[in-house]
Amino acid sequence: MTFHPHQSRAIGAVSLSVPRRAFLTGGAAALALAGEAHADAPASLKALAARTGRVFGAAVSWKQLDDPDFAALVREQCAILTPEWEMKWGAVEATRYEPSYGPAVKIVNFADANGLQVRGHAALWANNLPPWGRNALLARGGDSAALTRLRQILQRFPDLADWDVANEALEPRNGRPDGLRNSALVTALGTNWIARSFFEARKYAPKSKLYYNEYGVDYADQQSEDRRTAVLRLLENLRKQNAPADGLGIQAHLRPGDKPFDAARYRAFLKDVAGLGFEIKITELDIDDKILGPDVASRDARVADETARYLDAALDEPAVMGVLCWGLSDRYSWLRRSKRFGRQDGVAARPLPFDDKMRPKPMYEAIARAFRAAPQSRSPR
Ligand code: XIL
Repeated sequence: MTFHPHQSRAIGAVSLSVPRRAFLTGGAAALALAGEAHADAPASLKALAARTGRVFGAAVSWKQLDDPDFAALVREQCAILTPEWEMKWGAVEATRYEPSYGPAVKIVNFADANGLQVRGHAALWANNLPPWGRNALLARGGDSAALTRLRQILQRFPDLADWDVANEALEPRNGRPDGLRNSALVTALGTNWIARSFFEARKYAPKSKLYYNEYGVDYADQQSEDRRTAVLRLLENLRKQNAPADGLGIQAHLRPGDKPFDAARYRAFLKDVAGLGFEIKITELDIDDKILGPDVASRDARVADETARYLDAALDEPAVMGVLCWGLSDRYSWLRRSKRFGRQDGVAARPLPFDDKMRPKPMYEAIARAFRAAPQSRSPR
């Protein structure tokens, strides 16, 4: 593997090669992080995570793996990968009865070749559906369309470490007493669709950890509080029914400057989840810098700060078994591609631990430091 001269990053010495300038212009917090990094130079985030019994990883998309610098970074830093798009229904079966698994297989093969785990994402999700699939869910026989999709994707990839069986299924603002999101999946499978999906999933993926994955549970505002309550009700309900669900995935698409964060409240939520016997992973961490000014150094410092206070709280909970970022290098972040999310001012978003040139940013140091301070993990399962 070769690195360009401007990329001083090297395996085993990441923290020693952080460009000093980034820290000198990044404010006091970043300087403190830089100092910390020299105390005990880690090999990688995955190594630091492993010391506490956890995994670190990222979402990747198959074409990104053709970028040799990016692929090297993924190998160096990650112990677990999520296909960002390739296993979603709309990706796999754009045309009915013509499933194509090539892109997903490419990621799984990359993971296998490098000894990495894979999180399947996502078996049932009311978003990213193929248009025909939405119609099928809403039509007579919608239940069998949904269950066929679930069976097909799990049977094709039955050995993955984790599966997100259901994604983003709750929306208290829809006003239903059960907190469910009004969606084509409720229409197709009924109000007990999540539990049903776990029972089905277990048949096809007997060894995977089966996860419920959700967003918007991070902050201290009322909306997030309602979402946490809805998640806890769902998890209690799954336990009551003895549904074979193992874990809660917390997406953690964070946005500093928007809403207050209350570490104690967030910790209490994680403890409640663990108390119900669920393990937890932070599955899609990134920091949307949308409402921060364009200056790179102060943005990077604020992004690192948000990461630090969030992960310091999250990793204090032993049931949190891992952290995955939604991407690894800013270069490929979905927040740079999305029309709906991310900055709208034309300035390139910087939501991830590595910059465009695969160099570690202050956010990298924040993650490293959170792992260093974390207690050993302990799965409640
Ligand atoms: C996003 C991907 O990053 C995009 O490339 C894709 O077009 C849409 O989905 N919550 C999820 C992820 O569970 O699957 C989403 O990923 C981001 C929000």
